[in-house]
This record gives sequence, structure tokens and C-alpha cells, in this order.
Amino acid sequence: MRLILPFVLFLAACQQNPKTQNSITTTQISANELKTINAHRPDVFSFSRHDEVKATHLDLELKVNFKQKILEGFVVVKYTVLNPEAKHLVLDTRDLKIKKVEALVEQKNKKIQWRKGDTIAGLGTELIIDLPADHSAIKIHYQTKPEASGLQWLEPEKTSGKKYPYLFTQSQAIHARSWIPVQDTPSVRLTYNAKIQIKPGLRVVMSADNNNQKTTDGLHVFSMNQAIPAYLIALAAGNIEYQKISEHVTVFAEQQDLSAAVYEFATTEAMITATESMYGKYRWGQYDLLVLPPSFPFGGMENPKLSHITPTIIAGDRSLDSLIAHELAHSWSGNLVTNALWQDAWLNEGFTSYIESRIVEAVHGRERMMMEATLAYQSLLDEMNTLNEDMQKLVNPASTSDPDDYFSAVSYDKGRFFLEWMEQQVGRKAFDQFLIQYFDHFAFKSVSTDEMIKYLQQNLIKKHPDKITVQQVNTWLHQPGMPAFFNPPSTLRFDRVKQSANRWSTGIIKATDINTTEWITQEWLHFLRALPKQMTFSQLQELDTALHLTQRQNSEIAHDWLLIAINNQYQPAYSRLIDYLTSIGRVKLIKPLYQAMMQKNELHNLALNIYQKARPGYHNIAIQQLDVIVRLDGTHE
Ligand code: BES
Ligand code: ZN
Repeated sequence: MRLILPFVLFLAACQQNPKTQNSITTTQISANELKTINAHRPDVFSFSRHDEVKATHLDLELKVNFKQKILEGFVVVKYTVLNPEAKHLVLDTRDLKIKKVEALVEQKNKKIQWRKGDTIAGLGTELIIDLPADHSAIKIHYQTKPEASGLQWLEPEKTSGKKYPYLFTQSQAIHARSWIPVQDTPSVRLTYNAKIQIKPGLRVVMSADNNNQKTTDGLHVFSMNQAIPAYLIALAAGNIEYQKISEHVTVFAEQQDLSAAVYEFATTEAMITATESMYGKYRWGQYDLLVLPPSFPFGGMENPKLSHITPTIIAGDRSLDSLIAHELAHSWSGNLVTNALWQDAWLNEGFTSYIESRIVEAVHGRERMMMEATLAYQSLLDEMNTLNEDMQKLVNPASTSDPDDYFSAVSYDKGRFFLEWMEQQVGRKAFDQFLIQYFDHFAFKSVSTDEMIKYLQQNLIKKHPDKITVQQVNTWLHQPGMPAFFNPPSTLRFDRVKQSANRWSTGIIKATDINTTEWITQEWLHFLRALPKQMTFSQLQELDTALHLTQRQNSEIAHDWLLIAINNQYQPAYSRLIDYLTSIGRVKLIKPLYQAMMQKNELHNLALNIYQKARPGYHNIAIQQLDVIVRLDGTHE
């Protein structure tokens, strides 16, 4: 086997498949083609052969060039050779310009051979570097391209302050390779140091130590001494200020957003304390929060030591802070114990959504947690209705060419309800004890679903054979839909809200009679979702006048109302809709609105006009998803 391995590698590199040749092709590769091409690689979404040579540490030195929208410099890669026969270090790149590769031999640099291997649409280009005989560190000089999928370069007018440009990275799932040549798979963990040069006066922050350094020369120095997967390497640069709000928490934001963020995130320290008391010590030192500009495509991103957060959760009343609980929870499930492959995403997101709910319960009480559980359950059922049977399984047996497909309501909320169900079966005390042990056992490791289930059998099921059976666990993992033995969540307060919606829509009461004075955000959302799908103009007008829905600044409530407005062509809300879609870029909030518009012939033009205006301000990740929904070239699916 050993002898033929290099030959197999050689064969793979020589493949004549047109989808893998050294030209950038935009043709999407099919899931099955990808599986075949990458059968010899341990992770289908990565070119790396970390089973042979595994990267362990990066020293990054990059200059932020706002004018050209590029990062330029080098990375030094340290690695361990696992297979003594191995001849190459194989890295992932995407749209990188590789200039020179050297071996660092006794402080001197010696040029070494490298070449590009396969190029696969969506995955990027394989970088194959000859291993130096003495296995010394490898230095790669490179620069990024302005269209790098993991970088967003913002002109000053897209920031709150409007004076300085801004840059941020988004590496998950497989975008780290678009700004660092790296083994971009969650199975490989690395430590890193970084020196980032920027125009003096601006600040750089990273998922590392040393985010509040003062420099006069624009050189920012970072170190991350705990090994993390590449998808957690993160950087942001701009006119960023900060305020320490508690022992472990500092909030970073542009000056204009800082005080609102400080107010909104005041519960964070209490969340850390609560999580530590349930699942063991927080192991990352600081837990800082960075408020991104509104084009940030996600709600949050759990970059270690420094979560990246959308400004759309700043509601003024802390009602959307469960998102902070979620990103914080990833410090245990995801960052400490990491899914080995993206196929195991539910180990990150399902566990995290469960812990999020436990944190919310501890900090805001059981009622709020149950309201959020009920909303999540409803969304899960709605989304599952649109998914095929394989996609409804926690362990999704279908292959795909895009790892993002493994992140659906199934991995988040079916995963979460699976854990909640186990908790109910064995009791909270026993389940918490199990999770503490699990996090300890797999700390700083990547785990597969099989390993996790084996551990579960040994350490939980065996102890409670009368409470959880292997067959029930298999139903959760391998059957579509929700298990018949699962009890859906419900809350009395939501029952009352639904009753109000029904009484109003059947004409028993007027909108002004609905008692909303005590309603929290989650009740508003439940109310809007409980309304009939079709309403008349005068019904909508009555609601809007009584409840001031079009003017709501809470991004979630506004989203649900705008969806209703689109579905019923309620024109008085259109200018708010335009404003909403051109001012925020969080995919979860904007994509459903475009989808709804495209489902109505009368609204195609409105969608196209808004999208044309808004598109330049959106992140690549958002554009990729929206371009196939709103077709600017006028074609329809
Ligand atoms: N890690 C995810 C975001 C992500 C997933 C980025 C997949 C790229 C690929 C993050 O923790 C997350 O789940 N964010 C949610 C927040 C939520 C469920 C509270 C989001 O962005 O909406
Ligand atoms: Zn998450």
C-alpha cells in the first residue's frame, strides 16, 4: 500500500476530467462527480492530504491594501509528517495569487518547487508543494484577489462612520482558503501568530489574543495559542473602537454603534457564568464581541475569543440576545469539540442550539426559552416540508457539492430537540454530567458522528438502558421528520397570542382590542406567524394602524411583517421594504423576502429593482444565494 500511494497521488493529479483542470471554471460540479474525484482525500470539501502531512501552525504576515482590495504578504506553515513516504504538503487555495514558495532552512530561505493541482468550482485550487528533505517550515508568498469569497471590502459609505473603509473575513465553511493557503478542513487544527499591517489610525482585530493593542505605526500583532480549525481564523479591520463591559467581555464596534451594543450585550457575562456552571470552564480567556457592519451575511459567527455579530440583533431591549448565547455556546460545542467533517455539522449546530436554549433559560427564564423553542419547532416543520427525506435526517446520507447544505434547520433544531429529548429521558443532572464529560474527553479534537454516538452509548445509554434505547437514537439520526415519541414544545403565553390572532381574523375583536402591552418580541413573531396567509387590504391597514408594524425597528418583527406585506401586496409597506433590503445583508432576513417577491409575477420588477440597487452592498456569500433567486438577466427557472 505504501509503495503505490505516491502513484495514486500522481494519477489523481493527472486526471483529465475537464471539471478539475487548471482553469477557473464556473460550471457547478455535481455531488457525485465531487465524491468520485475526491475519493482519495479524507474530506471531500478539501484538497488536503492531512492523513499524510498535517499542518500544525501558521505565522501570517499580511498587509491590508484597501486601495486594491487585497491582502498581500506571506504565511509560514509548520507541519508534521505522518507518512514518511509523503513527498508533498497539499493545501487548499481559492483565487489566491501564489508568488513564491520557500523552505526556511536555518533562518535562510531556499526556493522550493510547487504546482497547482486540481481546480474544482466552489472548492478552489489544490496547491502541491514539494516537501523539503529536512521537513523545515514552508513560507508561501501570496496575495488575495478583490473577489475573494471570504473577504468583504467595504467602501466608507457602507460603514456607520462613513469615513473609513472596512474589511472583514468570513471563513466558515470553506472560505479560509480564499485568504490563506491552508488545510481548510475542520479535521485539521492549528495554532497561529499574525502580524497585520494597516494604515495607522485604523484597528485590526482577530480571533486571537491582543485585540485592544494601541499602535502608532499600524502594525498589529496577534497570537492564538490554542489549536483551532481554519474556519475559525478571522480578521476585521476598520475604524473600530471598544469598551470593556465586564470581566471577560469587551465590545468592539464603530463608535456610532458602540453604546447601543454595550447596552444590548450586557447579559453576556451572566451567560458565561451560567454556561460554566453547567458545562465546565470557559477555556478561551476573553469572550469579546465584534459588531460588524450591516452587510455581515450571518447572524453571528463563533470566531474564538471574538464572536462576530450582526448589528440587526441590536433591538434596544435585549430581546434578540439568544444569538449571543448561541455564539458563546460554540466555545464548547464547535470550537472546543469540533465536527470532523461538514457532514457532521449537527454536532456543532445541534449541540450549540441546545446549549443556547439552556443559557437562555438560565439568564432569561424558562418562559422565554419555551417561546423560542416553540418558534424554532414551527420553523423546523416548515423547512422540513421543503426538504427531501435524506435532508430531513440528522445523519444526511446524500452527498452534495456545497458544505452549506449541511446547515439547515435539521442540523440546528432537530439536533437541538434530540439533545433536549435525551435530557428529558435521563434527567437534567445526568445529562449535564454526560455533556461535561463529553467536552472534556474530546477537548481540542474533531469528532465524527460515529465517535460521538459510540461515546454516547458507553457513557449515557448503557447507564440508562430503560430510558433511552439504541433504536430510538437511530430514529433521531436516520429517519426523516420528527420521531412520533417526541413531545412538541408549547407555551401558555403563545396560546393566548394565537387566540388573539384568531379572534381578530374572524372578526370577533378589532386590532385595537388586542392587548399587546406585555408582549415581548417572541410574542409579536408568533402573532404575525399565526395570521391568515391571505388578508384584505383593509385588514392589513387596520393591523398596521393599530400596531404600527411598518415602522418597527426590530429587525425580526419587521422581517415577518414585510413578508406578510409582500404576500398580500400591501403597498404602504413597500418603501420600508426597499429601505430594509438596501440597508441590511443578513441572508436569513433578506432571502425569504426576495423569494416571496419572486413568487408573485406582479412583484418581479420590484424585486429586480431593489436587488440591482442593493447587490453591490451585499457579501459574496449572500450574492451567491440571491443571484439564483433574483435573476437580473431576466431569465426564470
Ligand atoms: N456557525 C454559524 C454560522 C455559519 C454556519 C456560517 C455555516 C457559515 C456556515 C453560527 O454559529 C450560526 O449558527 N449563526 C446563526 C445564529 C443563530 C442560529 C442564533 C445565524 O447566523 O443566523
Ligand atoms: Zn451556530
